[in-house]
Amino acid sequence: MLTHKIGRNDPCWCGSGLKYKKCHQVFDDKIKAFAREGHIVPDHSLIKTPEDVEGIKKSAKINIACLDAVAEKIKEGMSTEDINTIVHETTIKMGGIPAPLNYEGFPKSVCTSLNDEVCHGIPDKDIILRDGDIINVDCSTIYNGYFSDSSRMFMIGNVKEEDKKLVEVAHECVEIGVKYVKPWTFLGDMGSKVNEHAKKHGYSIVREIGGHGCGLEFHEDPFVSYVTEPGTEMLMVPGMVFTIEPMVNMGTHEFFTDEDNGWTVYTEDGKNSAQWEVQVLVTEDGAEILTY
Ligand code: MF3
Ligand code: CO
Repeated sequence: MLTHKIGRNDPCWCGSGLKYKKCHQVFDDKIKAFAREGHIVPDHSLIKTPEDVEGIKKSAKINIACLDAVAEKIKEGMSTEDINTIVHETTIKMGGIPAPLNYEGFPKSVCTSLNDEVCHGIPDKDIILRDGDIINVDCSTIYNGYFSDSSRMFMIGNVKEEDKKLVEVAHECVEIGVKYVKPWTFLGDMGSKVNEHAKKHGYSIVREIGGHGCGLEFHEDPFVSYVTEPGTEMLMVPGMVFTIEPMVNMGTHEFFTDEDNGWTVYTEDGKNSAQWEVQVLVTEDGAEILTY
């Protein structure tokens, strides 16, 4: 909720140096009207300034370079630890910090989730990529205090048709999500389109894990869900930055977490799962993709 009072002639909260009435007053009034109707609306802390966006874009450059480096080198016989090394070294070389490393105790610099692993797989020298595997590599980067986050799927050698289709549909889900990022509409509008697409192919999307605001922190509000109804969830407004990262399961949406390592999430039924992640900025007329 927007609560604190700023006078019309006070400096705007965004730091532009302009008077409030010449800067964000109309914007705030528009948001307040949605709040009065009972909608969830972003507070000022979720609106990135142009300077923040520049900072996030520099972080994103490293983030994208890491996944490009993985894309170039990934192959059968390599370990997921090797993927960790590529991401770690690329990040450090470019002056960044791998966000996952030591995050709530996570022991590595990237997440590598194979086949029926939904997310948060831990790289390991004993996990070797085999012909037919599908793997998600989820990379998060800090640069100069700004966070970026994205993930891609990779297919190793000859992948079964049904797995190829899962990977493709998961990618389409993200493309559809980006298409429905529009200011002054709701995250539930976007999420429901993503879910509709997955369901059309007989797949399900994980409910309790999803996208998130990202930029000044690793994980900010809002939680970005896909199992949602149109007209619900947070209002999207220009300046918000969040991820779209639906975890698309071939079978049930249910999952469990590895009890031994406390991280790796697996599908409950052992069927495969695929996920792509992008980070987007809400613009005046749609979305700008910051990471992919
Ligand atoms: N990169 C994941 C995300 O998309 C978060 C991973 S947290 C970690 O939000 F600790 F497992 F790295
Ligand atoms: Co994320």
